[in-house]
Amino acid sequence: MEVIICADATEAARLAAGKVARVCRDAGPEPVLGVATGSSPLKLYAELTRLVEAGVLDLSRASAFALDEYVGLPPGHPESYAEVIRRTVTEPLGLDQSRVHTPDGFATDIHAAASAYEAAIRAAGGIDIQILGIGANGHIGFNEPTSSLASRTRIKSLAPRTRADNARFFGSPDEVPLHCLTQGLGTIMDAHALLLIAQGEAKAAAIAAVVEGPLTALVPGSVLQAHQHATVIIDEAAASELR
Ligand code: F6R
Repeated sequence: MEVIICADATEAARLAAGKVARVCRDAGPEPVLGVATGSSPLKLYAELTRLVEAGVLDLSRASAFALDEYVGLPPGHPESYAEVIRRTVTEPLGLDQSRVHTPDGFATDIHAAASAYEAAIRAAGGIDIQILGIGANGHIGFNEPTSSLASRTRIKSLAPRTRADNARFFGSPDEVPLHCLTQGLGTIMDAHALLLIAQGEAKAAAIAAVVEGPLTALVPGSVLQAHQHATVIIDEAAASELR
């Protein structure tokens, strides 16, 4: 695992965008991106947008797969990840909407939707680079502590800590869904490269556990230790509990 500590979040985003752009160029005209929602990658997406607008990165034929989606929201809900990805990734980066995928958390047969998502990633040839944030409890995607290291896309319950952390996007904590459909840790590990980005002191303990702790299902992000091409890009605050 490569760990890069940057002076601040702006430098981290610039470095991360450079890494994503290199992988996309190497992948040819139809790169496949894995995208996360949440606050952590927003500056990275803004920096990628700048590269696209400057004409140095062409994502017009790129595909994208989101990590996860809530289960239990009505279709079109502004906080559904389908909508969040449309606002923060698809539109700014000029991606073709028909090539952008989120797990179908609105499906009546949620298990079939999970299998269909796995099949869609396989049909696209796999993910070239998966962008990840990290939960304060060490989750990646919505693979909460104790998730199987070999897990595939499936329905999961959200941990109370995650629901509390995500309450800021909803009117009240009670409105945060109880369930989600998330890529599994095994699905994430199949990506050709992983890029985890984190900023701020609130992530420092999780980053220390991911980078320096044992590989354990109690800290799902620690699975990155077993990936051949995993990069962690963090600011000094997120690095503050590293030894
Ligand atoms: C988002 C996701 C989550 C977030 C994590 C950090 O699709 O899968 O794992 O990356 O909860 O969220 P932020 O970045 O908002 O702190």
